[in-house]
Amino acid sequence: MSKRPVVIDCDPGVDDTLAIFLAASHPELEIRAINPVAGNVGYESTSQNALRLADLIGIDCRVGRGAEEPLIAPCRTAGAIHGKGGLGGYELPEAKRDFDPDYAWDVLWQEARRAEGELEVVTLGPMTNLAIALTRYPELKKLIKKITSMVGTAGQGNTNVYAEFNAWVDPHACEIVFQSGIPIAMCGLDGNDTCTLSGEELYAIMERPSRITPVTRHVAHFIHERNTLQWHLPSSTIHDLVTMACFIDPSIATYEPCYTTCETRSSISAGQTVVDLYHVSGKAPNVDVLRCADKERFKAMLSEMMDWYTAH
Ligand code: BDR
Ligand code: CA
Repeated sequence: MSKRPVVIDCDPGVDDTLAIFLAASHPELEIRAINPVAGNVGYESTSQNALRLADLIGIDCRVGRGAEEPLIAPCRTAGAIHGKGGLGGYELPEAKRDFDPDYAWDVLWQEARRAEGELEVVTLGPMTNLAIALTRYPELKKLIKKITSMVGTAGQGNTNVYAEFNAWVDPHACEIVFQSGIPIAMCGLDGNDTCTLSGEELYAIMERPSRITPVTRHVAHFIHERNTLQWHLPSSTIHDLVTMACFIDPSIATYEPCYTTCETRSSISAGQTVVDLYHVSGKAPNVDVLRCADKERFKAMLSEMMDWYTAH
């Protein structure tokens, strides 16, 4: 069976880290690149984390040099949410490899050409790198098979009342991607929340012994303690992880195709993903919006991930 070529664009980030672990435990995927972008924390940290994670897991892939700031919006990060260095204070060993000499958008273009129409892209952070690639290489949209993104919400936001963080950081990039014509699956806050985990469920999986457990244990505790003690939430949705699971096995996900745009102008709702759930605009759907994912199968995928890292 031929492998599924994929480029992961991300801003690690505690939940990006778990998503990358999940992807790397699926040998049917061929991870061509892990491209960093500024987002959860500054570019200096997200880029080092991407490099170090690729090294730690032992993935033979490129790590392109990504965007240090959004296209137009000011550079805003969420350091307090992801802790020191972006990984809740966990220090990964220094990377032995270096960045690819090419920029993330050039890496994406090169890999899309190499994959001859089969390349998929998963974005787990602001969509700046992908938007630059689409603008710089107009032919790229014909070469990307599908984009699966942790972005947006069809409900309430987590950054302003209406906007999800990744869309809010770079709304102009999000809108470029939405209007590109490439098939896109939007795994937003509300859809991902159908796979929210209690502390008991989360720790039972992430503390299972394996070679990545020092990281998964630390990160799981960081996320869940922040969510419950600081934010008083009953459970934890690890958004990038649910998104990656939906990418790996689309059969766990239920999508509704909807006409969707990203608000770039309003001072109240900048970054809102305006989802025409009831099809009132009469416009053709351009985005598959995640409505729910199968939580039991999601949990099973996470358990299998831990088993894989025990065996490899
Ligand atoms: C998204 O923003 C970041 O905090 C997470 O990594 C995730 O990609 C959730 O809004
Ligand atoms: Ca992220």
